[in-house]
Amino acid sequence: MTAQLTATAVPPKSMRDIVDLACRAPSVHNTQPWAWRVEGNTIELYADPRRRLPAADTRGRNLTISCGGALHHAQVAARALGWEPTVTRLPKGSGSTLLALIELTPAPPSPDAAVQLQALRERCTDRRQFTSWPVPGARLWGLAATATKWGAHALPVLDPATRVRAEILVGRALDRQAADPRLAEEQQRWVDHGERDGVPAAVIPETSPSAATNALATVLACSPSATSGGSWTPPTDCSSCAEVPTTSTPGCAWARA
Ligand SMILES: Cc1cc2nc3c(=O)[nH]c(=O)nc-3n(C[C@H](O)[C@H](O)[C@H](O)COP(=O)(O)O)c2cc1C
Repeated sequence: MTAQLTATAVPPKSMRDIVDLACRAPSVHNTQPWAWRVEGNTIELYADPRRRLPAADTRGRNLTISCGGALHHAQVAARALGWEPTVTRLPKGSGSTLLALIELTPAPPSPDAAVQLQALRERCTDRRQFTSWPVPGARLWGLAATATKWGAHALPVLDPATRVRAEILVGRALDRQAADPRLAEEQQRWVDHGERDGVPAAVIPETSPSAATNALATVLACSPSATSGGSWTPPTDCSSCAEVPTTSTPGCAWARA
């Protein structure tokens, strides 16, 4: 008997459950810019460039980060459901929309499976105003350590001078956003967009505290190279990882962030 014949086939229901849980991942404007295909014991994750935001996401950076979130969720789901995922990123190179292969082999469910599954099912973006309570540094470093575990790089901004600089950048970005009607129109189009995608108006606070986050993302996407292109650029670089990557580190780094 060949090794192929003796390999345990992953039941279709398990495949479906893993993909369903992966689709619980956050995505920019809830565009869910991914597509899935199952081949044997392997799940293929594709970027869906038709769901890129042409005004806000010229290079597809946020699209790729969103797909990276789905890839992360797929792995957590697989481990919790008793499958060890082996991930190959960009198997067809940088010009392809095929972002990752997730090959599944049987394994004991992760010890914290119930907690992980609950977290995947219950997670959501919290857009409420931050309180004035300081977040303990240890908590922030803990979050950064978790990012590192997944191959991303996160750095808590604790130094007051750096924070002020970041705030100035955010302020400038807000000004640029406010001056671009295309961004506002695009954002509006994804509010109450559909039953399964888009952002429900009900979850957006009147004065959205996430405006600052939006703006910071815009700063990072507003380099000359970011604004010059008009279409999704397939990932090109697998070498570097960053939680908030610079405009010059596309590709796998975006997907890991
Ligand atoms: C790359 C990326 C960028 C995002 N940017 C913002 C943002 O600027 N402001 C915001 O409120 N939410 C942002 N989100 C969160 C999405 O709006 C949210 O994930 C989506 O609406 C789905 O909702 P859920 O996270 O509650 O499932 C972002 C998510 C991703 C993955």
